[in-house]
Amino acid sequence: MNSNPYRIGSFAVFTTFIIIIFSTVLMPMVLFQPKPTDTRNNYNLESSAGDALRGRQIYVREGCFYCHSQFTRLQDRGYGPLVKAGDFVYEAPHVLGTARTGPDLTNEGGRFPSQWQKAHLIEPRSVKPGSIMPSFSYLNDRDMNDLVCYIQTLGNGRTVSAYVEAPDEYMPVTPSGQALLARRHVDTNSDAASNAGRGIFTQNCAACHGLEGWGNGPNSITLEKKPANFSRPFYKQYSDQMWFYRISEGVPGTRMPRFGETLTEEQRWYLVAYLKSLPQDKEVTINSLAQLNKLTPTKLPVLTKQEWEPHSGGH
Ligand code: HEC
Ligand code: HEC
Repeated sequence: MNSNPYRIGSFAVFTTFIIIIFSTVLMPMVLFQPKPTDTRNNYNLESSAGDALRGRQIYVREGCFYCHSQFTRLQDRGYGPLVKAGDFVYEAPHVLGTARTGPDLTNEGGRFPSQWQKAHLIEPRSVKPGSIMPSFSYLNDRDMNDLVCYIQTLGNGRTVSAYVEAPDEYMPVTPSGQALLARRHVDTNSDAASNAGRGIFTQNCAACHGLEGWGNGPNSITLEKKPANFSRPFYKQYSDQMWFYRISEGVPGTRMPRFGETLTEEQRWYLVAYLKSLPQDKEVTINSLAQLNKLTPTKLPVLTKQEWEPHSGGH
C-alpha cells in the first residue's frame, strides 16, 4: 500500500479549520439568541415625509456606517440610552459600524429638525463649521427625504429614563451585584447617611469637585477634563449603583480616581447618599475664576535662623 504521506496532515488542517469555523461562527449563531427588546427602533412609523426603511437602504448604500456607529456603550456619555443586544434582532444588514469618525447615531432621531439634517447632508459645514463629513448633495429628493426620515427614527424606541446604567457586576442581575447589595447597610436616602457622606466628600473630593459639588474645586483649574458638576439635572437619573460604580472605578481618561482602592464600601455608599442629596434642578455654571473655591494661603511663621536650624551648633 502506498498511502499518501500528506493524508494525516491534510486531515489535521481540515479538522482544525472546521473546529475554528464551528466555534467562532456556527456555535454563536445557534447559542446567541437575544430576545427582541422593546427599545429597538421602529422604522415602520407612518410618515408622510418619506419611507424610513428605504432610507435605511440608502444609509447602507452610501456607506454612512463606515464613519458612524450605532451602538451606545456604557462609557458613552451624552450619546443617549445604551443599546441592548436584543435591539438588533430584526436588523439586516447590521449597521453597527466599527469606526467613529463621526458621532454615534444610535439616538440621533429628533435631535435636530429634519431641515437641519437635510442642510447638513447637503453641505455639512453650513450647519457644523469645520465638519469633515462629506457632502451628499448628489442624492435626489426622494433619497434625501427617505434618508432623513430614517435618521429621525433612530432611537425612537428608547426612553430617556435609561440614559445611564451601572455595569451588571453592580446590579442584582449578577451574583456579585447581589452580594454587593446584600452587604450594604447604608440607607442612601437618609439625611444621616448624606451628612456622613458630606464629611468624606469634603476630605476626598472637594479639592476637585468643589465644596458645593459644582466642579469648581481649586484643583479643577489645572485639569484638562474638568471634574463633574453635580448640579447638572442630568444626574437626577443616576441610580445608587451608578453613583457607586463611578466612585469605585473612576472615569477612564480623566483624573477621577478609582476610590474602590482607597475607600471602604461603606464610605462609598455614604458618598452616594451625599451626591444624591445635592440639588440637581438647575445647573450652576462656573464661568469666572471668582467662582472657584480658593485655597487660603497658609501663613508660615517667620522663623529666626536659630529657630529653624536649632542644631546647627558651632555657636
Ligand atoms: C467620512 C466620514 C463620514 C461619512 C461617510 C458620513 N459621515 Fe456623518 N459625520 C461625520 C463627522 C466627522 C461628523 C461630525 C461633524 C458634523 O456634525 O458634521 C458627522 C456628523 C453627522 C451627523 C450629525 C450628528 C450630530 O448629532 O451632531 C449626522 C446626522 C450624520 N453625520 C449622518 C450621516 C449620514 C446619514 C451619512 C451617510 C449619508 C453620513 N453621516 C456619512 C463623518 C461622516
Ligand atoms: C483629582 C481630581 C478629582 C478628585 C479628587 C475626585 N474627582 Fe470625581 N471626577 C473628576 C473628574 C476629572 C471627573 C470626570 C468628569 C467627566 O468625565 O466629565 C470626575 C467624575 C466623577 C464622577 C462621574 C460623573 C459622571 O458623569 O458619571 C463622580 C460620580 C465623581 N467624580 C465623584 C467623586 C467623588 C465622590 C470623589 C471623592 C471621593 C471624587 N469624585 C474625587 C475629578 C476628581
